Amino acid sequence: MSQETAPPDVIIDLIKVSKVYPPDVHAISDISLTVNRGEIVFLTGMSGAGKTTLLRLISRMEKPTKGMVDVAGFDIAKLPQRNIHLLRRKIGMAYQDFKLLPNRTVADNIAIAMEVVYRPKSFIEKRTRELLDQLDLVRKYATRAEELSRGEQQRVSIARAVANSPEIVLADEPTGNLDAETTDRVVNLFHQLHRQGTTILIATHDKSLYQQTNHRVIELRFGRIRAPHAESFEQNDEEKPTFPALASAPEA
Ligand SMILES: Nc1ncnc2c1ncn2[C@@H]1O[C@H](COP(=O)(O)OP(=O)(O)O)[C@@H](O)[C@H]1O
Ligand SMILES: [Mg+2]
Repeated sequence: MSQETAPPDVIIDLIKVSKVYPPDVHAISDISLTVNRGEIVFLTGMSGAGKTTLLRLISRMEKPTKGMVDVAGFDIAKLPQRNIHLLRRKIGMAYQDFKLLPNRTVADNIAIAMEVVYRPKSFIEKRTRELLDQLDLVRKYATRAEELSRGEQQRVSIARAVANSPEIVLADEPTGNLDAETTDRVVNLFHQLHRQGTTILIATHDKSLYQQTNHRVIELRFGRIRAPHAESFEQNDEEKPTFPALASAPEA
């Protein structure tokens, strides 16, 4: 049987995608990228390289100027406005600037993700507490978001992104404001989601997040993919003597 066609479990497929912001900012240029269901992929690269734009194209917050973006079976460029919510249900996004509702409580901010899909109140309450416990925020349950430190806001935005167990989690610099201990908690949460089959894309400057793992790392440079690190690791481990064998997070 021919293996020429795309593998069956592709969940994100970008083909020759470009994004130009008016008047002439070439944020993404001719990127092709395929992500399989259940993969963790790290997007790295300097500030301005196009990481956030790539995530925004996947969540249909931006439309591509050229090329095709297919996410969970939706053709992003052709998806009508009235159906965007069907795509968004499959995606949890933790934004680089958090986008919390400032005068609502931590619990409210997390609950919103679940309320829009009509989860029962008891489920929402339990899930919210579970996430706050995992991210060391239980004592902030009833605090208004605007009263939180940036590191706390960051963790609330991550909790909101994953609350509804979406098929795809997009995390934009998710540990940019965190110390080592809270970073570990976020990493453990991502590993837990990974074990449950969630597809996770993480845009990050933080090498410590991916250096200890064997997940795919994609470096963007001026809107283009620079080098397919992971493929060369997989094909020729011997050239990478320091490449660690195991992910840092313990298996539960
Ligand atoms: N809404 C926008 N309008 C115009 N230019 C933008 C917009 N968003 C991002 N850019 C530009 O696109 C490029 C890529 O930005 P971005 O995707 O935010 O990169 P990164 O997340 O890697 O820092 C940068 O040159 C940035 O200034
Ligand atoms: Mg960014």
